[in-house]
Amino acid sequence: MNAKQLLQTILLIKTVGVFSLVNIQTKKFGLSGHIDWRVNSKREKVKEMMKFAWKGYAENAWGFNELNSELGVPHNESVFGSHHIGLSIIDSLDTLFIMGLKEEYEQGRKWVADNFTLDNIDDYLSVYELTVRIAGGLLSMYAMTGDDVYITQSEYVIRKLLPAFNSSMHIPHARINPAAKKAAPHPWTPESLLGEIASLNMEFYYTSEITGHRKYRPIVHHVRDQLDMLFKPRDMYPDYIHPRTALWGPLKMSMGPKGGGGLYEGMLKSWLRSNQLDDQARDLYMKAIHQVINSMVGLSFGGLTYVGELSNFHVIRRMEHSTCFAGGLIALGSQAFYNDSRLEAKHLQLGKDLALSCRESYRRSATGLGPESFQFDSVPREDATARESDSKAYRLRPDVVETYLILWRLTHDQKYRDWGWEVVEALEKYCRTKFGFAGLQNVYDPKGPRDGVQGSHFLSETLKFLYLLFSKDSLLPLKKWVFNTAGHPLPVRYINNKFRGSQLKPYVHFSI
Ligand SMILES: *[C@@H]1O[C@H](CO)[C@@H](O)[C@H](O)[C@H]1NC(C)=O
Ligand SMILES: *[C@@H]1O[C@H](CO)[C@@H](O)[C@H](O)[C@H]1NC(C)=O
Ligand SMILES: *[C@@H]1O[C@H](CO)[C@@H](O)[C@H](O)[C@H]1NC(C)=O
Ligand SMILES: *[C@@H]1O[C@H](CO)[C@@H](O)[C@H](O)[C@H]1NC(C)=O
Repeated sequence: MNAKQLLQTILLIKTVGVFSLVNIQTKKFGLSGHIDWRVNSKREKVKEMMKFAWKGYAENAWGFNELNSELGVPHNESVFGSHHIGLSIIDSLDTLFIMGLKEEYEQGRKWVADNFTLDNIDDYLSVYELTVRIAGGLLSMYAMTGDDVYITQSEYVIRKLLPAFNSSMHIPHARINPAAKKAAPHPWTPESLLGEIASLNMEFYYTSEITGHRKYRPIVHHVRDQLDMLFKPRDMYPDYIHPRTALWGPLKMSMGPKGGGGLYEGMLKSWLRSNQLDDQARDLYMKAIHQVINSMVGLSFGGLTYVGELSNFHVIRRMEHSTCFAGGLIALGSQAFYNDSRLEAKHLQLGKDLALSCRESYRRSATGLGPESFQFDSVPREDATARESDSKAYRLRPDVVETYLILWRLTHDQKYRDWGWEVVEALEKYCRTKFGFAGLQNVYDPKGPRDGVQGSHFLSETLKFLYLLFSKDSLLPLKKWVFNTAGHPLPVRYINNKFRGSQLKPYVHFSI
């Protein structure tokens, strides 16, 4: 650490210290909610975290997918294994770009231009992860910069995915082998996950729009038509569906992003990105979310709202950390009910109630970070806490701060920024390691071990959402950009921009 960095660190510690005082003062005088003097230094703090996390990855795991931030070596056990797909690079680009981290961004762009390839990978990779993270990340960069490298590389990825859609029932397979050009299911189930196959809409549509190649769009449109047409048990969508037969798997339903929740997210966001013209997507969202509210949402004895899971139509009063994205989703989806102000208000309120429950899962842990999964089925004081030891981990997941960001943008209620800042402080205290950031094995044990993993989603989502939470609404305004399921923003499509092919210019240029 040189003298300048040291000085910056001291200043930062000071501002953070002073800030807590200001907070107490303003609360005392009833001013909180209107004043957030320190919002710039909070945003800078998040930017510093990104810079640090990127540095750890770039120096110790470059080209690999993720970093083991305790050992300072590549982490090979998640999504794309030890293949050189550069997941953390591609996932990070838009975050680096909006933060104005120019050097880091250029380093990543160069790798995408010179080194990114799937050609020699003779292994089965997740269609969902390739679409939402790799294609999504590249498409997002194209939208922001208009740089041709990104259009070339994202169309290349989309082409590699096509064998997954070779199914007579229009239900995609879960994995593809890029070298063998073959598809396969996940190793643990013959069915495809509903959320995984139904959230591919925006990336394929946008690829058609910017390349002028219309063929990508119908491929995913058929998936939606098929799901819309199928008989559904009690009008609800189960989490699993077989690609060859289009028969539903076990009668299990959830709001998780890879289960039903992913379908509703895909449809709502398709509607929003279509400039609210895609009526089929809106109808599907409205009907489905109505059923979710009727059958899966409940109130615990302690007064907390949850969205549970259904197993054979029996409600399990439990939420996953990843299901917490539903708070933001349902709040955002209140717009779909624009013709009925009562329903619109009801959905916004439900989004807020779910955000509160998810925040409780953080507040009720000793580290201030929430567990992987938490229940609402016993005594009130145990609401929103994890019981089994394997549910107590925290994996640097973005879903709760994503919901804070959406609600902040929709309501400008100061508490969402305050809750987000609590997360920043807890991350600094418990998750910062020598080489970056890592998850925790037990959120209830402040002295417990970390898990060593700096998941790529931390860079693409968690830190991006936190940065935006402390930025002006004009940075990626929700009326002009829609975040895909992996946090990569894609631009809303305006009517006069229909299929003009590759000469179509991106909508917004940021300058860094
Ligand atoms: C992942 O694989 C790389 C290269 O094979 C190796 O250097 C690294 O130590 C592995 N990571 C872990 C955590 O074992
Ligand atoms: C990336 O590609 C360039 C040019 O082909 C090559 O010189 C370099 O070694 C590659 N870097 C990595 C990390 O593979
Ligand atoms: C599609 O699947 C069929 C049957 O599984 C196979 O024979 C055919 O070669 C596949 N086509 C492509 C383009 O992968
Ligand atoms: C609002 O629109 C939906 C879908 O188009 C329709 O089913 C519903 O009846 C409308 N509600 C009102 C109050 O007009």
